[in-house]
Amino acid sequence: MRVGILTGGGDCPGLNAVIRAAVRKGERHYGDELVGFLDAWDGVRERRTMPLSVETMRGLLPRGGTVLGTRRGSPFDTDDGVALVKRSLHDLGLDGLMVIGGNGTLSVACRLSNEYGLPIVGVPKTIDNDIVGTDVTFGFNTAVQIATDAIDRLHTTAESHDRVMVVEVMGRHTGWIATSAGIAGGATAVLIPEIPFDIDELCARLTRRHDRGRYASIVVVAEGSEPVPGTLEMEDKVFDRFGHVVLGGVATRIAMAIGDRTGFETRVVQLGHVQRGGTPTAYDRILSTRFGVAAIDMIHDRQWGKMAVLRGDKIVTEDLEVAVGKTRTVDMELYEGVAEYFFA
Ligand code: F6P
Repeated sequence: MRVGILTGGGDCPGLNAVIRAAVRKGERHYGDELVGFLDAWDGVRERRTMPLSVETMRGLLPRGGTVLGTRRGSPFDTDDGVALVKRSLHDLGLDGLMVIGGNGTLSVACRLSNEYGLPIVGVPKTIDNDIVGTDVTFGFNTAVQIATDAIDRLHTTAESHDRVMVVEVMGRHTGWIATSAGIAGGATAVLIPEIPFDIDELCARLTRRHDRGRYASIVVVAEGSEPVPGTLEMEDKVFDRFGHVVLGGVATRIAMAIGDRTGFETRVVQLGHVQRGGTPTAYDRILSTRFGVAAIDMIHDRQWGKMAVLRGDKIVTEDLEVAVGKTRTVDMELYEGVAEYFFA
């Protein structure tokens, strides 16, 4: 078969490992020819490609980012987008397309497959871990490890200065990274987008802790967290050209409010894209490799409109449709069960 691969949306540790695995099994086991599209759907529309082979993918298992490049945006953004995608796949003689992406990219893949009959399979990706249908996405484990390492380091400086450290982690719609790194790093409080936070309640909690003689605290906040309406004035929202809210900065607002209301010295650490860069953890390399192998098998089984997912400890297939328009939010048993006993 001739198989195309693209990576879309924000990058994520493990993308290269997925591509490498698909190429290895495709070339060695099935005798496939593999073609990588550069810069996501832009490369499909504009026919910008690179050949993918076991040779060219050598050494890429531990490398972060994606050798194919990635972009936001979709063929549905322009009138001729879908026609251009169809023509590219036809002219390049492709029998199948593997689309590795997050919620947005997988939704596009789903439409192209279900409405336009294109031969597409998906692989779910995002450090946010918010895709419905899979127990975990690759990249999440790496992001949690990076955030946990940062929190570990912040404990000692916070304790030396009796400070409250407010650590902002990624998590646009969900607080998976915040909750996991908060538990692993022994945070005092974790704020997540799923539950609007009450700044007074947070300050009361920090004060109680202070009164018990614990002067330093770590507050982990997911970037998409919002206050209970009317309780804390926030900056006006700014949108990027794809209509996404530009996040980043909620920790600064929270740290100022804590300082004003409690008098405690506060500092802000915004981890940002550090969480997305660099080498994937061993867990993510293994998960990515399993996804890549499963996805090339799915192409050979012509399981169009499906994605490879993790269910328990098995990789299985799921309809792309299952992920569309939904967000997998934090398991409240995990958040509340742990919050009650440890975040304090
Ligand atoms: O979706 C993953 C993610 O890392 C979010 O947590 C974050 O809000 C977003 O991507 C930022 O992406 P970028 O800066 O690349 O637009």
